[in-house]
Amino acid sequence: MNKITIAIDGFSSTGKSTIAKQLAQKLHYVYVDSGAMYRAVTFYAMQQEYISECYFFKDKLINNLEDIHLSFCYNSELGFAEIFLNNVNVENDIRSLEVSNFVSRIAEVPEVRRKLVEQQQEFGKNKGVVMDGRDIGTVVFPDAELKFFINASADKRAKRRFDELIKKGDKVTYNEILKNVEYRDRIDSTREDSPLIKAIDAIEIDNSDLSLTEQFDKIYEIVQNKLRNI
Ligand code: CDP
Repeated sequence: MNKITIAIDGFSSTGKSTIAKQLAQKLHYVYVDSGAMYRAVTFYAMQQEYISECYFFKDKLINNLEDIHLSFCYNSELGFAEIFLNNVNVENDIRSLEVSNFVSRIAEVPEVRRKLVEQQQEFGKNKGVVMDGRDIGTVVFPDAELKFFINASADKRAKRRFDELIKKGDKVTYNEILKNVEYRDRIDSTREDSPLIKAIDAIEIDNSDLSLTEQFDKIYEIVQNKLRNI
């Protein structure tokens, strides 16, 4: 059967990566979490002290982009590929609220985007890929056969992310998470380079009131229809 490219975009914490992982597993496709790549660059910038609450040495980051090597390595126990920054597994480190608080500023930098988009396009060049992010259907794979745009109320999204972080043992409050979700929505949607917008040919899904199973069934049916008709 012909393989296709599936782009999943949407606001922060809408559960895009959950859907993308499930789809990739079911279809035996490669899953790429493009947000993890922006998060890993952010983690690098924090380690190098290029960014903090008080400063952002953007030029230093741009001048050292060549020192950043990102790769994914499949973890069969987890069932997805974890991200490595310069050969170190940073999958856990990049999910912290601290990284979330800086990532949208890093993701605004056109030079960073250019580097990551190039790598993302390389990952997807043979199709058979499910990629989630903000600009996958608009910039990375404008010709993707199937595009989804996922949304949910800010309150529901913050609640889901809060539960996730608490489960991991992070000390965060619901209000901090809600603030971060709203802040990232604003920056991601209004930045000049590749803002988060719904591609005209994307199928919009609001999952505020859908269970994981309902959501998966709905999306998988659309995917199957597509695969039957290509
Ligand atoms: O999982 P969550 O929705 O919290 O976000 P993510 O997918 O891990 O992405 C983290 C951040 O990276 C987003 O808030 C964006 O600022 C940026 N991003 C982007 O600009 N373009 C992408 N294709 C993916 C993520």
